[in-house]
Formats: sequence, structure tokens, C-alpha cells
Amino acid sequence: MNLFDVYPLNNIAITKASGSRVWDDKGQEYLDLYGGHAVISIGHTHPHWVKRIEEQLEQIAFYSNSVIIPLQTELAEKLGKVSGKEDYQLFLCNSGAEANENALKLASFHNGRKKIVAFNKAFHGRTSLAVAVTDNKNYVAPVNENDNVTFLPFNDEAALEAHFALYGNEISSVIIEGIQGVGGINVATESFLQKIRSLCDQYGALYIGDSVQCGYGRSGKFFSHDYAGVNADIYSMAKGIGNGFPLAAIIVAPHIKPKHFQLGTTFGGNHVACAAALAVLEVIEKEQLINNANEIGEYLAAELKKISEIENVRGRGLMIGFDVPDAIKDLKKNLLWKHKIFTGEAKPNVIRLLPSLALTKADADVFLEAVKKEIVALKA
Ligand SMILES: Cc1ncc(COP(=O)(O)O)c(C=O)c1O
Repeated sequence: MNLFDVYPLNNIAITKASGSRVWDDKGQEYLDLYGGHAVISIGHTHPHWVKRIEEQLEQIAFYSNSVIIPLQTELAEKLGKVSGKEDYQLFLCNSGAEANENALKLASFHNGRKKIVAFNKAFHGRTSLAVAVTDNKNYVAPVNENDNVTFLPFNDEAALEAHFALYGNEISSVIIEGIQGVGGINVATESFLQKIRSLCDQYGALYIGDSVQCGYGRSGKFFSHDYAGVNADIYSMAKGIGNGFPLAAIIVAPHIKPKHFQLGTTFGGNHVACAAALAVLEVIEKEQLINNANEIGEYLAAELKKISEIENVRGRGLMIGFDVPDAIKDLKKNLLWKHKIFTGEAKPNVIRLLPSLALTKADADVFLEAVKKEIVALKA
């Protein structure tokens, strides 16, 4: 049997990892500023995370959501504390798409409405409703097309107001990434998020803060939406929540009341996943990783802004993007193959940095030096 060939692959097999470093099957070391697509929050194979998972495996790995799983309650308490959303309710699932699927569905259950507002360049996942609110024709199969979804321009308050004036009483939810990831690191302005909040309040729609990529401390605050000083009604999260152990969640504001069987999952919130997620939060707290994301992120962005050949450095915390002009278009490729540094990308010409929140200044400097050196080589 062959693999179903849907991923364009780098010809590298990663077999070992630690902190911000990974190694291939030939022993070659790489610096990881991609974090396996923003997933590695506390660093690869963090010893506390490994120990917590190992110990849990020896107790029990899985039992279904038909019994009490005390680790889920422990996780809800810890997540409430670390995120500052202590009065929210936690529902655990398995992937970012599933989290958004549940968020959109729950909003519709709550207000009985069907229309959804999403934004240009949004990415919310690959499953049916999550992909219907994703602005990329290549990912949307005919069966996923959904007339209830309207895409509006990102950060355009006037367009949002005009849309609400026409359809406000039919809108179930507005879904937005606080910082668009796949779309190319586009930061939602604080006043745009505040406008979403006030229009949702005025018309009885729900604000869904997709925090799958920009959440979990990556932006330098727990949720990037926090910069605007507003609360979403539902936050979705995944990626960094398990540091690579598959797990996702939504947290739901207290005014939204649960009903039995509205949402459900077989694997979501299993014992090992909860142990992994608890380990992540314990390390985030103990090692003050949100502060580190802020500090190292500010340093990286400031230093990148000094490099005149790259353009439009943007982002928050350790979620940084910049444009690579045509003259140095091989920068990403050469960083990987010549300098052994993984970075992320967004089509057509954006380099995305999504490293572990524990990235050190020394590692940031290794990256900055490589970028400068490579730009000189590319221009020669
Ligand atoms: C903002 C955002 N939402 C949702 C998703 C989907 O998450 P998953 O791939 O875990 O389904 C992603 C994945 O990249 C994402 O970046």
C-alpha cells in the first residue's frame, strides 16, 4: 500500500527531537523555528511532559466519556487559571477543525440561527463546516460549499457593520483568528475585534475566537484576542495544547448552557491526552513561557525589522511573519538545506516563524545570523 499523496514533502525524516532542535535519520541537527506547524509549545520531548505521559500510560490510557475522568476536571481548573477564563466551560476533542466544528455548531444550537461570518484569508480546518468558513477554494469540495457563510474583508469595520445592519438578526456567529496563520500572519486590529464583540452583543450573535494557531501563549498573551480587551463567547484551541499529543478544546462562556448529547466524541479528553495537556500548562507556568514568547518575540521582530531586504515584519510574540521579495525568493529553502533551520511559510512569499515558546535568545541569534548570511549569498 502507498501513502495517499496529499502532502508535498521535504525529503527529510525526523527521528529525534529535544527543545528547539530536531535530528534526521542521518544524525543531522536542525534548529526548529516551525514547531511542526505551531504545535510545539513547551519544546520537543520536554522531560516533564514525557514523564507525565509515561506515568499516565502505566495507570490507564483511555476510557470513554461515559465515566468521570478526574483529569478533565483538573485540566479545566488549570486551563481556567492560566488563561484567565476561570468561569468558562471546557469541552475536549481531537483537532483544531473539530474544535471549530463544535464551536460553530454550538453557536447555532444556542441561538437557533444559521448564518456565519468569516473573513478573507481565514483558515479554520478541513472538516465540513470548518472548511466552509475557510477562504481557500482548493480546500473546499463541492459538498462543503455552504450558502450560510459570508466572507468579509479582514479588519474592515465598515463592511462588518454594513453586513450586520442587513442580516444581524440571522447571524449565528462570527469566527475569526486573532492572528491569521495560514493566511500569512495578519494581525486583527484591536478595534476590529472590539467591533465584532459589540455587534455580536447588539444582535445576539456569538463571537468565536479561533485560537488554534495564535492561542496558548504564542502571541505573548494566552489568547491573541486578549490584546483587544474583549472576551469571545467560544475559544477554539489545539496545536500547542498538547505539545504534539493530539488534543483540542473549546472553552465556552458561562451564559451558554450545555445540553446532554449536543456535542460528543469518543477519544476527546482521554486520560493520556489530559496528562499531556496538564504537563504543558504546568511547564508554561513554571518556566514563564508566555513572558518568554513576548520577550524573545519582540527581540526577533525588532532585529528582523533592521534587515532591509525583507519586508513587512509583523505578528505578535512568537508568531512572526515577513515577506520575502523576489530577489531573495530562495531564502526559506536555503535556510533549511544550507543552514539546517526549519521555518514555516504562507503562500506566495511569506516566511512564518512558529517556534517553541521556550526559544532562547541564543537560538534566535543563530536564526538571525543565518538569515543575514543567506541574504548576502543570494544577492551575490
Ligand atoms: C487557525 C487554525 N484553525 C484551525 C486549524 C485546523 O487545525 P487541525 O489541523 O488540528 O484540524 C488550523 C490548522 O492549521 C489553524 O491554523
